Amino acid sequence: MLLAWRRDVRHFRRDPLDEQTVAELMATAQLAPSVGNSQPWRFVRVRSADLREALALHADAEVTQAGEAMSEERRASYSALKLHGMREAPEVIAVFCDEATPIGGGLGAATMPETRAFSVVLAIHTLWLAARARGLGLGWVSVVKADYVAGLLQVPQEWRLIALLCLGHPLEPDVVPELERRGWQARLDWRDNVSER
Ligand SMILES: Cc1cc2nc3c(=O)[nH]c(=O)nc-3n(C[C@H](O)[C@H](O)[C@H](O)COP(=O)(O)O)c2cc1C
Repeated sequence: MLLAWRRDVRHFRRDPLDEQTVAELMATAQLAPSVGNSQPWRFVRVRSADLREALALHADAEVTQAGEAMSEERRASYSALKLHGMREAPEVIAVFCDEATPIGGGLGAATMPETRAFSVVLAIHTLWLAARARGLGLGWVSVVKADYVAGLLQVPQEWRLIALLCLGHPLEPDVVPELERRGWQARLDWRDNVSER
């Protein structure tokens, strides 16, 4: 089942994706729901090797810094985790939310501006499932400072970073989340997250 097979992937083969595949995935993400039909997602494909390396170095530094705040016991297993595949994945895509888009006339977002960002997350999830359905893997990288990424990629000021994504063929598919396999955090039973009032 697609939702059970979907994984966050950090280990990629390096072979490139063909342009037609990338275009079809982007077209599928465009089908996501959005507040006021504002479609505020902005996908920036990082094609420059220098920009990619700058992003990877930045993420590495943030990973190290986050580890320093952890208990010694947690840090030992944390440092063994791989938290991004930006050096290997054939596609690195920065996803922004255009907080100033006039598309959709502000419907809904005037009352709840955060729904624009929610819409971008839905587009990412749509892309995630569409990629998996084609045997591709997607990894969500959040171990970065949003302002640093926006500055590096020189996007308009109104664009807020939602995610950095790595996309490509996974080294190997797996039905169990990597963090669960490595003993960091298992998926909870759904009953743990449902209550009644
Ligand atoms: C908002 C968000 C941010 C995430 N950030 C990272 C990240 O920086 N590095 C990473 O390796 N995984 C990241 N993940 C992936 C999660 O670790 C992963 O979804 C979770 O462990 C469950 O595994 P699964 O997606 O394979 O089911 C992120 C996922 C989400 C939804």
